[in-house]
Amino acid sequence: MNNTPFLAIIGGTGLGQLEGFGVPHSQLIKSRFQDEPVQLTLFDSKDGRLAFLPRHGAGHRLPPHLINYRANIRALHDLGVTDIIAVNAVGGIHSHLGPGSVAIPEQLIDYSYARATSFFAADAAPLMHVDFTHPYSNEIRQLLLHAVAAVNEAADEPVSVLNHGVYACTEGPRLETAAEIQRLKRDGCDMVGMTGMPEAVLARELGLRYGCLALSVNWGAGLGLDPLTLESMQEVIQQGMGFIRQVLLQSVQMYRQQHAAR
Ligand code: HPA
Repeated sequence: MNNTPFLAIIGGTGLGQLEGFGVPHSQLIKSRFQDEPVQLTLFDSKDGRLAFLPRHGAGHRLPPHLINYRANIRALHDLGVTDIIAVNAVGGIHSHLGPGSVAIPEQLIDYSYARATSFFAADAAPLMHVDFTHPYSNEIRQLLLHAVAAVNEAADEPVSVLNHGVYACTEGPRLETAAEIQRLKRDGCDMVGMTGMPEAVLARELGLRYGCLALSVNWGAGLGLDPLTLESMQEVIQQGMGFIRQVLLQSVQMYRQQHAAR
């Protein structure tokens, strides 16, 4: 593994582009997992490199169950990335995770069932069982927690943040039934999304540190008073992404300071 610190941000719904990090350069990276190359944006500055990958592809074309997670993570790995902040929209299940609030989960349960979940093939080396006890990197979680705290400290209206929690990954693209959300709740899940897996485990397989910054864009099905509509979710995404972008700027700054100090 290349050890020069190199941070990437994976953007989800509502975060198809990044600004404020310097001059962007587009880069195409081929892998054996996909015919067309993965399109990334690189920001090179004297303070260090940064990569940005819109998970759903340029123009947000791909629904969660059709994303080629292996091509995406392989591209970041081949670029030399060592650390990933993944931004995910979720439905809130925990009572503190109403629309507009943010979570930095520390565990996950994978309910997806029709995705390519590993780089290991039939002829794989014996190392195919990666340790996934703690699916998110503690270093990235701490970075995000500090960044969120700093942004909230400077804000007139702090955003509510869940500093822990269990992320449930469903297959989608449909939303859940009310009974499914009750089951996720009984299972101990605090939020539900469709893109957290297999992204997290693929990063682990390739030795990349990975953390999740989740924005709640709705209550899980059956938990809120209002019907779930795409319009209401999009409204929350529009409002919430301002905070997410500030947290990302802060995270990148802190990441660079940490690594410059070493
Ligand atoms: N369920 C699954 N994925 C989601 C949701 C949800 O309610 N909201 C945003 N992504």
